[in-house]
Amino acid sequence: MALYAIGDLHLSYGVKPRGGSGSRPGPTGGIWKNREAVFRQNCLSLLTDDDTLVLAGDISFGKNAEECAPDFAWLACLPGKKILLRGNHDRFWDAKKTPALNAKYGDELFFLQNNFAAYGDWALVGTKGYCFEGPFYLDRRGRLVGWDEEEERRAGELVERELERLGTSFEAAKSAGYRKFILFLHYPPTSLIEKTSGFCKMAEEYGASQVIYAHSHGEHNFHTSIEGMKNGVFYRLVSGDCLRWRPERILE
Ligand SMILES: [Fe+2]
Ligand SMILES: [Fe+2]
Repeated sequence: MALYAIGDLHLSYGVKPRGGSGSRPGPTGGIWKNREAVFRQNCLSLLTDDDTLVLAGDISFGKNAEECAPDFAWLACLPGKKILLRGNHDRFWDAKKTPALNAKYGDELFFLQNNFAAYGDWALVGTKGYCFEGPFYLDRRGRLVGWDEEEERRAGELVERELERLGTSFEAAKSAGYRKFILFLHYPPTSLIEKTSGFCKMAEEYGASQVIYAHSHGEHNFHTSIEGMKNGVFYRLVSGDCLRWRPERILE
């Protein structure tokens, strides 16, 4: 039995091609080319039905149940238990829909928000999260000299809402008797201008062992948040392009 994670599949099997080019939404070139096939092959060689795979957000470009259904059916056929986290591109999923999604897909997929999933004696908790993504202002040498303070204030409001949801997730697990936690976020736990955040503090307060996050694409964004051990919590990025579509083993 092992726990794996990866984010940002950005599936679109059920989305009709749009625009003059007839292409589906999302990135297609370079590392993104044939990602579904590469990811599927990696899952088939790594995972068994005893394993659990957390999909850390940006799962589907489908904007409603109909457009998502082919992506969910495709995921459900992969080995192991699948746990889904909400990403910024997951427009099919607003916070109120989580119970309905779990009722509909309960045998195949688990949607993690305002709830938790059990993995042995561990509780898998999580939420989309949020962090301020700019605009940042750089000087000629690429050094940070400022940022949009109004946007930063707005980001702070979104962070507060997500912290509330994460608190609900932790408390649900705690009430059920769990004392060991792995925390999943879609967004990185800190922005470019932060050394810590409410997400880091909550991870420390509840004694989470790891914080797993995704969302950061492209090599220049792979190291913009916390990585490795900090204040007793281990942080790691699992965006799909960073992992080259090979799910990362989180726990044995
Ligand atoms: Fe993404
Ligand atoms: Fe994202």
